[in-house]
Amino acid sequence: MKELFQKIKDRTANVGVIGQGYVGLPLALVFAEAGFSVTGFDLDAKKVAAISRGESFIKHIGPERVAAAVASGRYQATTEFSRLRACDAILICVPTPLGPHREPDNSYIHSTARDIAKRLRYGQLVILESTTYPGTTDTEVRAILEESGLACTKEFLLAFSPEREDPGRRDFTTKSIPKIVGGVDPTSTEAAAALYAGAMDRVVPVSSARVAESSKLLENIFRSVNIALVNELKVIFGTMGIDVWEVIEAAKTKPFGFMPFYPGPGLGGHCIPLDPFYLAWKAAEHGSWARFIELAGEVNTRMPAHVVGKVVEGLNDDGKPLKGSRVLVLGLAYKANIDDDRESPSYEILELLREGGAEIAYCDPFFPVARKGRKHDLGLESVPLTPEAFGRFDAVVVSTAHDRFADPGLYRDVRLVIDTRNLLASIPFGSAKRPRVVKG
Ligand SMILES: NC(=O)c1ccc[n+]([C@@H]2O[C@H](COP(=O)([O-])OP(=O)(O)OC[C@H]3O[C@@H](n4cnc5c(N)ncnc54)[C@H](O)[C@@H]3O)[C@@H](O)[C@H]2O)c1
Repeated sequence: MKELFQKIKDRTANVGVIGQGYVGLPLALVFAEAGFSVTGFDLDAKKVAAISRGESFIKHIGPERVAAAVASGRYQATTEFSRLRACDAILICVPTPLGPHREPDNSYIHSTARDIAKRLRYGQLVILESTTYPGTTDTEVRAILEESGLACTKEFLLAFSPEREDPGRRDFTTKSIPKIVGGVDPTSTEAAAALYAGAMDRVVPVSSARVAESSKLLENIFRSVNIALVNELKVIFGTMGIDVWEVIEAAKTKPFGFMPFYPGPGLGGHCIPLDPFYLAWKAAEHGSWARFIELAGEVNTRMPAHVVGKVVEGLNDDGKPLKGSRVLVLGLAYKANIDDDRESPSYEILELLREGGAEIAYCDPFFPVARKGRKHDLGLESVPLTPEAFGRFDAVVVSTAHDRFADPGLYRDVRLVIDTRNLLASIPFGSAKRPRVVKG
């Protein structure tokens, strides 16, 4: 293993990153920018071709970064997995979705581990980055890799290091976000920590892969539970005529022991709606009930229906039924100013509105056409971002607070807004006409 440590130290280690998506692409760039030679592996030939042309397919990752890394000769992408053998460190960033019954789907991790096992050689370091339940690395991945005939910790090293990407965030980057690392043995931890330290500002070694896996789940469960709490309080305070947003602003002046979370139309993104259930599932195997996780999931999952209820109330006050009314939903992305619509609650809201007989439309400058997903196929195109287009609807629902929706002129001819993000409260309407706003 001496050679591996030396290569990591002098940055001559070849780094392979499997999965060139939201996590793998920026990770590959950070290593290339730090001077390592990086190979990005993906099954998707279109992504590989785009990277090879120096293009980015993720809006918040500038194409100039990809172009510069490719031009430097330190970053290549390929669909050719035989090149894994030339890598000294292999980082796995493949999807970990949920199955139809909210059960973990580790099949991508397993097939990737099998791809590696076929080419595994002495002295390689394998690091799993995909979010998963504790024990995946040191049981499932280890067992598959050992099918190669090589012994883990003696002939190859293995660790887990969770990803903490927050798409669109500007104050922290992949390089500056502290990186947790836990190996299946101390040498694996040491090697993985040394590798990340070569490219990132701060590495946090922990005692095991299981602690590293669990820390990622804690971070996401913490968010899911706290978002569910404010979503529930939104409903409770709403029945009392109290504005939860004003309550949060007041509470947040406490300089200690409070951290603000904000209500919304429901959870979105690749992590928070899904990852907690990885632990809930695993907990059952150990005879435990993950009650907070299940409760938070239930509260958050109910939010789109709550929003649609608010649309019905708002239209009712205008003497209109939902059936036949024209309703525009602002934002398909799950959060502001990004082009990521995975698990976005906007889809559910639109479908519930359509089921209720409304004529639906959406506006999102990041999605000119609504993508066909695993669960949804709206068959819609974005309406233009203009006051004329907005004025044709009986109700407008703010589901995502893109900056471009914060223009008072857009609402010139709008009568009713159901605002799930408190966006309109922050718009300086001045003397401009303000629509009636129902907080959703
Ligand atoms: N997106 C985030 O913000 C985020 C943050 C933290 C952690 N994570 C975790 O990181 C992991 C990856 O998520 P992501 O958002 O990057 O997913 P993604 O869907 O954007 O990217 C995954 C990539 O892996 C490729 N792929 C799938 N199977 C493959 C295989 N067998 N071999 C090679 N490539 C394969 C896909 O083509 C895709 O390009 C997941 O476990 C996720 O939970 C994601």
